[in-house]
Amino acid sequence: MRSVAAFNESWTFREGFSPENLGRAQDGQPVTLPHTAVELPFNYFDEKAYQRAFTYQKVLNWDEAFAGREVSLIFDAAMADAVVYLNGEETVAHKDGYTPFEARLTGRLKKGENLITVKIDGSENPQIPPFGGRIDYLTYAGIYRDVWLKLTAPVSIANIKVETAEVLAERKSVRVRCDIANPQKLSAKGTVKVTLRSQDGAALASAEADTAGESVTLSFNDLTEISFWQLENPVLYSVDVELVTDHGVDRHAATFGFRTASFTAEGFVLNGKALKLRGLNRHQAFPYVGYAMGRSAQERDAEIMKHTLKCNIVRTSHYPQSKWFLDHCDRIGLLVFEEIPGWQHIGDEEWQQESIRNVRRMIERDWNHPSIVIWGVRINESQDSHDFYAETNRLARELDPTRQTGGVRYITESELLEDVYTMNDFILGNEELPGANRPRTPLRPQQENTGLSRDVPYLITEFGGHMYPTKIYDQEQRQAEHVRRHLEVLNAAYGDPSISGAIGWCMFDYNTHSDFGSGDRICYHGVMDMFREPKFAAYVYASQCEPSEEIVMKPVTIWARGERNIGGALPLTVLTNCDEVELRYGSLTKRLGPDRENFSHLPHPPVVFDHRSFTPDELGVWGMEWEDVHFTGYIGGKPVVEQYMVANPLPTSLEVEADADSLHAGERDTVRIIVRALDQARSRLAFLNEAISIKVDGPARVIGPETVAFQGGTTGFWLQATGETGSIKLEVASPRFASQSLSLTAK
Ligand code: GAL
Repeated sequence: MRSVAAFNESWTFREGFSPENLGRAQDGQPVTLPHTAVELPFNYFDEKAYQRAFTYQKVLNWDEAFAGREVSLIFDAAMADAVVYLNGEETVAHKDGYTPFEARLTGRLKKGENLITVKIDGSENPQIPPFGGRIDYLTYAGIYRDVWLKLTAPVSIANIKVETAEVLAERKSVRVRCDIANPQKLSAKGTVKVTLRSQDGAALASAEADTAGESVTLSFNDLTEISFWQLENPVLYSVDVELVTDHGVDRHAATFGFRTASFTAEGFVLNGKALKLRGLNRHQAFPYVGYAMGRSAQERDAEIMKHTLKCNIVRTSHYPQSKWFLDHCDRIGLLVFEEIPGWQHIGDEEWQQESIRNVRRMIERDWNHPSIVIWGVRINESQDSHDFYAETNRLARELDPTRQTGGVRYITESELLEDVYTMNDFILGNEELPGANRPRTPLRPQQENTGLSRDVPYLITEFGGHMYPTKIYDQEQRQAEHVRRHLEVLNAAYGDPSISGAIGWCMFDYNTHSDFGSGDRICYHGVMDMFREPKFAAYVYASQCEPSEEIVMKPVTIWARGERNIGGALPLTVLTNCDEVELRYGSLTKRLGPDRENFSHLPHPPVVFDHRSFTPDELGVWGMEWEDVHFTGYIGGKPVVEQYMVANPLPTSLEVEADADSLHAGERDTVRIIVRALDQARSRLAFLNEAISIKVDGPARVIGPETVAFQGGTTGFWLQATGETGSIKLEVASPRFASQSLSLTAK
C-alpha cells in the first residue's frame, strides 16, 4: 500500500556547498522544513544574501518497509536550482523553484544509514525562468515547501486527471485518466478500480478496467443529483483509484468539482451564469522568511482574499503557488488564475524549453483544481514571441482542453495566441505624464489594447501598483486617492460587459529588488501591508460584497483637522454596502446614499461627502474647534452599523489578535498575530510608530525580531510551533499601554 509521510524534520543546514563532502554528513544547523536559507530583515537588506549555494542534509534509516517497494522523496518545491544526492550520488536535478520534483531512491538505499544531501543554489541563474533580466519580487532560496517520503508498490499510480463533461446537463459525466508509473519496466498487467465519492466520503459509483500500459481512462456517465462547485457552495467530489498488479496494490485519490468556466467576448461565465471577476494579485511572500511558510499561512491568505477582501478571483502572480493555497481555494470557493514563472524577460532557446516544461509541470500538478479557471502561459509582461507562445498555448490545450489560456501583457496590440486577452492596464495615472494630453481614464477601451476590430474574451490582470504606491501610514489624502483609483478601475470593469473582470495589483506589500519599490526593498503596492493588515483600499473590495454576507462601512479618514492639505476631511469617501450613511458632526447631520454619479456601475458605490453635501466651512476649516464624528450605516431605512471617531485620539489600548487560538505542534505550524495601538474609540492610532516587545513562553517562537515598531499604529508577526505540545503564553508589552497577553495551545 502507498504511504506518504512528511519528511520535514531533522535536517541539517549549512551555507555553501562542497562537492568533495557530498557523501559525508557535515555539521550544520538543525532545521525543519519549510525553511528559508536566509532570514531577512523586514526591509533594507541586501537581496544578494540568499543568492548563493546552500546544503541540506538528512539521514534516512533503512526500513524493512522499503524492501520490494518504490521509495522516493517528493519535494513540493525548492528555490531555485536543486540537486538531490543519495549517499553522494546524484539522483535528480530540478531547475524550477515553483513545482514539485521526485528523487527516486529505489535500488540505491543501503541497509543502515543513508545520507540525503540537497544542494540548493539560490543564484539568479539566467538559464532558469524567471531569471536573466530584472524581476520585481524576490525568489528566496531554500527548501521552502514540504518534503515527503513516498513508498508505493513497484507499479503505481503516477497521476490522476479528472475531466467533467456536460456539467450543465441534468446527467453529468466524468472521465478519470490514471497514469501509471512503472520505472522498473515490469509487466504492468492489472486492474484499475475507480470509486467516485461525494464530499462526505459516500461512494456514488465505481468502475473497473484492465490495464497493461501507461495509462487507463474510465468514465462515469448519467450521473444525477450532482451539486455544482459554486463560489457560495463549493461542493467537492473525489475519486479513489486503486491499482492492483502482480506487484501489489497502490491507492491514490484526487479531488475535483463539477463546474463550467468560460471567458467570452461578453464576459466571464461560471456554471452558465455571468460573473464579474473582482480580484487581486498575490505573491507567495511573507516578511522575514520569504516563501517558507507552511500550510496554515497559505490557507489563511486564501481566507483573507475570500472573507476579508471579498474577492472572487486571485492571480498567482507570477508562478505556481503552494498546493495548500490552491486546495484551500477549492474548498472555500475562490477562483484562481495560475501562471508559469517569469517576469518580462525571455531567455534563449534552452530557457524557453524550460519554460515550456514549466507549462507541463504546472498543468499536470494542478489540472484537477476546480478553482483554477485559466492557465497563464506567457512570461508575465514579455514581448511577443510567436513560436515560443504558439508552443506554450498548444501544449496547454493538449494537456488540458477544458481550460482557456491567457498570457499577461502590458504591450498593446500584442499577438493574441491565447484564448483570453489578459491585460495589465496601467493607463490610470498616465495623464500625469508630461505631454500626456489625455483625460484621466481608468482603463483603455478594449480594442485600443488588443488592436483588434472585434471584442474578444478579455480580462484585466493588473492595475494600480507602481502607478500609485501607498503605505499604510501615508498621508490620508494619498490613501484616499489610492482608494479612488481602485474604485475607478473596478467601476469601469463593472461598467463594460466585455470585460470579464479586473484583478488589482496587489493583495499586500512585498519585498523586492533594489531596482524596484521604495528603495527599502518593499513595493508598497498592496491594499494590505506585509502582515495582511488592511489599508483603506482593502475596503474598496470588501465593500462590494452583499450586506447579507457582511455589512461594511469604512470611512476613509483618520478624522483629524490638519492631516490633509489645507485641512479638513473633504471629500470624505465612505466605503460601504449600506443604502445610506449618516454623518453627525457637532450640530451637522447629513444622510447620503451611494455616489452613483461617479461610480454608477459598482455593485456598492461608496457614499461620498463633499462640497455637494457640506461646505468646507461646515466640515473642515483650519483652526476651528475639531469635534468627534459619528457615522451610521442604514439599510432599508434601519440603522445597521455605527462608527464613532474621536477628535482627540489618545493611546488607550493595545489590541492583540490571533488568527487562531491553537497550532499544530508537529508541523512547525504558524499563527499570525496582529497588534494594534487603539484610541478611546478603538480606532488605530494612525501615526503611532513606537516599539513593542514580544515575549513567548511555551513551545513556540516568534518569526522575525522580538522587538518591532508599529507602522501606522499596527504591526504583526507569526508565531511558529517548535514541535512540542503545550500551552503558549504570548505577552506584548509597550511603554504606552498596559501589556496584553494571549494564551494559545500547541496541540
Ligand atoms: C507590473 C508587474 C508586477 C508588478 C507591477 C507593479 O508591471 O507585472 O509584477 O511589478 O507591475 O505595479
